[in-house]
Amino acid sequence: MFTPTVTIEALPSGEKTKFEINEIKLMIANINGVAYAVQRICSHADADLSEGTLEGCVIECPLHGGMFDVRDGKVLSLPATQPLKTYPTKIENGIIFVDIPEVETPESI
Ligand code: FES
Repeated sequence: MFTPTVTIEALPSGEKTKFEINEIKLMIANINGVAYAVQRICSHADADLSEGTLEGCVIECPLHGGMFDVRDGKVLSLPATQPLKTYPTKIENGIIFVDIPEVETPESI
């Protein structure tokens, strides 16, 4: 389900921010006007990627320096070996929406 997050105005191109929906920790980045959402916790260990360095489409993990492409979650350098989970986004009326899977509850299973 597409969920509103932050405004594109609050997230200029080249910037990133953190967001949490349904206990899913996200990093949202604006790369040349396109919004991308990936898991915020590094796939290597417990580090918050939104506190890392974003250069172009590459986020560098602040803990061990692993690098990922935020457009597709692909690993670009060790020590990370597992890709990041990515989430579809869209921008409507200046708001970035992220498609988050609905939480499964006992009633919905
Ligand atoms: S925690 Fe990110 S590379 Fe190790």
